[in-house]
Amino acid sequence: MINQKKIAGEKACEWIKDGMVVGLGTGSTVYYTIEKLGEMVQKGLNITGVATSIETEQQARTLGIPLKSLNDVTKIDVTIDGADEINQAFQGIKGGGGALLREKMVAQASSKNIWVVGEEKLVTELGKFPLPLEVIPFGWKQIKRMLENDGVETTLRKQSSGEIYETNNGNYILDIINQTFTNPEAWHEKLAGIPGVLEHGLFLHYVDIIICGKASGEIEIIKK
Ligand code: A5P
Repeated sequence: MINQKKIAGEKACEWIKDGMVVGLGTGSTVYYTIEKLGEMVQKGLNITGVATSIETEQQARTLGIPLKSLNDVTKIDVTIDGADEINQAFQGIKGGGGALLREKMVAQASSKNIWVVGEEKLVTELGKFPLPLEVIPFGWKQIKRMLENDGVETTLRKQSSGEIYETNNGNYILDIINQTFTNPEAWHEKLAGIPGVLEHGLFLHYVDIIICGKASGEIEIIKK
């Protein structure tokens, strides 16, 4: 059986050239990109990575990929990341792995953003996948109540142990469920304006290239 994540993840390495500063996304697809970049670094490729999560940082360190923090670089040439859903307008949902805030900051700082996905991530309408909000623990119930009064259903993300899930930044995640995002721009306006919501998982203007691994083994490159 074809591993769609692996073929898409590895393909993205073709965009990485010597001397680049590379944003390293988070998740099970970009995992394969990072593994492959590790091999390339072992063979002499000279890059500097900027990790979007502690998990990615640990993987890159183990592989010997030199890293800098976002604070210590002035530009990022290319960022490679996964996504949870993408529509035909190149708008997506991210944050299934909880790394949305750091991912969006790194995407914003990048000259080019490449998303690596399996074909099931390509959708006509966003919303089958829950939309995460990173919220500060202080008053999170207030945010939940406010959204609910507005007809927006959310669940507080928990770990499998039942403990509240905490992001790398020490915040909570409220996942918006049972909602179709037919007008993502309007949702961006609505969610970005709520005090205590640090970030939402709608990525509307970032991605330049989608690398899609298909069950057939074919890899489709979709450029904006
Ligand atoms: C991390 O918070 C997410 O944005 C991931 O990039 C996204 O969920 C895609 O993950 P997978 O590649 O594991 O599906």
